[in-house]
Amino acid sequence: MDTQAQIREYNRREFLRFITYSPLISYFGIWGCTGEKRESDLLLSSPSEAKNVFDFDTLARQKLNQDAYNFLSGGADDLKTVQANREAFDELQIRSRRLVNVSNVDTSVELFGQVMATPIMLAPIGFQQLLHPEGELAVARASAAKKHEMIVSTVSSYSVKEINEVRGTPAWFQLYPTPDRKITTQLIRKAEEAGSKVLVLTVDLPVLGNRENHLGFIRQMITAQKIALGNFEGLPFPSQVHDPSLDWQMIEWLRANTNMKLVLKGIVTREDARLSVANGVDGIIVSNHGGRQEESNLGTIECLPEIVNEVAGRIPVLIDGGFRRGTDIFKALALGANAICIGRPYVWGLAAFGQTGVEKVLDILRAELVRIMQLAGTTSRSRINSDFVQRNL
Ligand SMILES: Cc1cc2nc3c(=O)[nH]c(=O)nc-3n(C[C@H](O)[C@H](O)[C@H](O)COP(=O)(O)O)c2cc1C
Repeated sequence: MDTQAQIREYNRREFLRFITYSPLISYFGIWGCTGEKRESDLLLSSPSEAKNVFDFDTLARQKLNQDAYNFLSGGADDLKTVQANREAFDELQIRSRRLVNVSNVDTSVELFGQVMATPIMLAPIGFQQLLHPEGELAVARASAAKKHEMIVSTVSSYSVKEINEVRGTPAWFQLYPTPDRKITTQLIRKAEEAGSKVLVLTVDLPVLGNRENHLGFIRQMITAQKIALGNFEGLPFPSQVHDPSLDWQMIEWLRANTNMKLVLKGIVTREDARLSVANGVDGIIVSNHGGRQEESNLGTIECLPEIVNEVAGRIPVLIDGGFRRGTDIFKALALGANAICIGRPYVWGLAAFGQTGVEKVLDILRAELVRIMQLAGTTSRSRINSDFVQRNL
C-alpha cells in the first residue's frame, strides 16, 4: 500500500470508529441491515413533511406490524443482494456539463408506442392489502393522478379489472405462471379483458428465494386463505404461483396464447438478453426481484451495461432494484435504460399514508430526477448518455 492509500485507510477507520461511538448516532439513527432503514423518532403528520423517500420507510416500519414490515423489507439469505442493489449506485459517479440552458426539462419517454410523462414506473408488488386496506386501488389512483405507468402483480389483493377501472388507463400485468397452464390462460384472459396491453413474465422465480424473515408468515396466510387474491376469483386458490419447469418454450406458448406485448422481468446476464431477443420478446426488465431471490451479491445497475450492449437498441431495457434517489435513476438512464421501476419506496408511501403517501413518493422522485438532470446539464432523456457517468475503481 502506498503512503497516500495508508493515510486514506487510516482516516476511513478513524472515521468509522468515531461514528460508531458518537452520540450523534443515537440522534440521527443507525442504518438497518438492508442499508436503508433508519431508526429515528420521525413521525410525520402528513406526507408533505417528508424530505425523501426514506422518511416513508421509517413511517411504514412504525405503522405496520412486524410480519407485514418483514414482508415488505425482506430479502434472500443475509440481505447482501438487497444491499448490493443500493451500494452499486455508489460505484458510479456523475459527470456534469456546464453552461447548458436547463430552464425546460422534458422527462418523457416512449415505450411500445406509448409516450409516458416520466421514466419512473411502479414495479409489481403482491399482497398490498397487507400494507394498507386500499392496497393496489390506492396505488392505482396515485399512479394515474401522477401519470406513472404501473405493473399489477398476479398476486395483487384486488383484481386487475378493479385496478384498471380505478386507474382509468390500463396497467401492465405481471404473470407468475402456475404449473397448471389452464389457470395461467385464465389469468391472461382476465388481464386482456381488463384492457392490459403488456404482459410481464417474471422469470427469476422458478422456486421461492430463501427469505427467512417472512415466507413462513405468507405461507400461513395463504394456507389459511386469509389473504385476498383478486385475480384468482373463480379459480382454484393456488398452492403455488411458481413453476420450476419454466423454460424458453414458455415464450412460444405465450405467443400462441396472447397478443399482448411480452416483457421478461428478471434478466441479469448478457446471455439471457441475447436469448430474449432471439426468442422475440418485446422488452426486458433487468431485475433481481429486489434481492429476494438468489443471493447473487450483484446489484442490478452492475448488470445493466452488458445487457444494454447485447440488446443494442433492438428492444427496450428497463431496470429495477434499489432506486431511491433521482441520481440513481439518472445513472440508469445514462447507462442506457429506457425506464426504471421502483418497488419498496411506493409501498412505504402506501403503508404510511395510503394514496397520498404514494403520490408524495412519486413527487419526490420526479422532482429529484428533474433536479439532477438540470444540475448535470441535460434537458431530455435523449440527451442523457454514458458520457454522464463514470466508474472509479
Ligand atoms: C413486498 C414485495 C413484493 C413483491 N411482489 C412481487 C410480485 O408479486 N411479482 C413480481 O414480479 N415481483 C415482485 N416483487 C419484486 C418487485 O417487482 C421489484 O422487482 C423490486 O421490488 C425492485 O426492487 P426495490 O424494492 O428495491 O425497488 C416484490 C417485491 C417486494 C419488495
